[in-house]
Amino acid sequence: MTGWLGLEDKVCVVTGGGGGIGRAIAAVLTEAGAKVALLDRDADSANAAAKALDAKGARAVAVACDIADPRSVDAAKAQVERHLGPAEVLVNNAGVLAPGALADIDLAEWNRVLSINLTGYLICAQAFGRPMLARGGGAVVHIASIAGHHPQGFSGAYSVAKVGVMMLSRQLALEWGPRGVRSNVVCPGMIRTPMSESFYQAPGVAEARAAIVPRGRVGKPQDIADAVAFLASPRADYVNGEDVLVDGGFCAVLMAQAPRPGFDPAKAK
Ligand SMILES: NC(=O)c1ccc[n+]([C@@H]2O[C@H](COP(=O)([O-])OP(=O)(O)OC[C@H]3O[C@@H](n4cnc5c(N)ncnc54)[C@H](O)[C@@H]3O)[C@@H](O)[C@H]2O)c1
Repeated sequence: MTGWLGLEDKVCVVTGGGGGIGRAIAAVLTEAGAKVALLDRDADSANAAAKALDAKGARAVAVACDIADPRSVDAAKAQVERHLGPAEVLVNNAGVLAPGALADIDLAEWNRVLSINLTGYLICAQAFGRPMLARGGGAVVHIASIAGHHPQGFSGAYSVAKVGVMMLSRQLALEWGPRGVRSNVVCPGMIRTPMSESFYQAPGVAEARAAIVPRGRVGKPQDIADAVAFLASPRADYVNGEDVLVDGGFCAVLMAQAPRPGFDPAKAK
């Protein structure tokens, strides 16, 4: 896989690199020979993830960074450049999920989620993307969500931010494509990570979720990381402005909800 992807020695930045999906993305990129900076506001998680990669002989550095704060992102960019060189790939992955009903969500909470899950993606795209534009080459991959395709109720600004990320990516593809920088999205389905772990602790949830996914299982961080590595790589040179669903087919189940007597042999008995 290493040679096929053509990511050897590329400098890649992964935001949220200390979390479930971010760690897997960083691991796949380093396995492909890339140098990776793991940015996370949780410095301990990022350090632990980078240390684990280092132990396997990978070139990985942890950088403490709050993606919602432009000064923090600028400082992180300087650190990445000092340790590894200018970024050639940015994976916008850091995110938060918080409950909240629209009828009474607090505006400060709404703004907090948008500032990380949407504005933070623009801040990082600008900071790491401008040097890519100046050099005439690079790739940005954003992690959105199936919640950007279908409303996920009672999650405050989460779905709104995620559909915003999808349009942000397409706008970047349009504006930056002619200058050699591609922008694409991966939309994960239900992936078991620290973000979603509390759901799976409830009895029966893991089995119930697996049962409604056509692929027959809940997703793993590696499922997302593999798609990201392809989009980040020169192998995806002609892929720009695309949203890739990695959800085991979950978004395809809508018509299966409608009773159609006689059409499904499994339900014919
Ligand atoms: N887990 C799922 O089922 C799922 C589904 C769809 C989309 N996603 C998306 O995938 C991405 C990764 O999520 P995950 O499941 O790995 O969650 P996670 O909670 O394991 O990891 C998220 C990481 O982002 C970091 N982070 C949060 N706010 C930050 C900030 N302001 N600055 C820097 N870092 C910050 C956290 O510290 C954490 O390490 C998120 O964008 C999430 O919305 C996850």
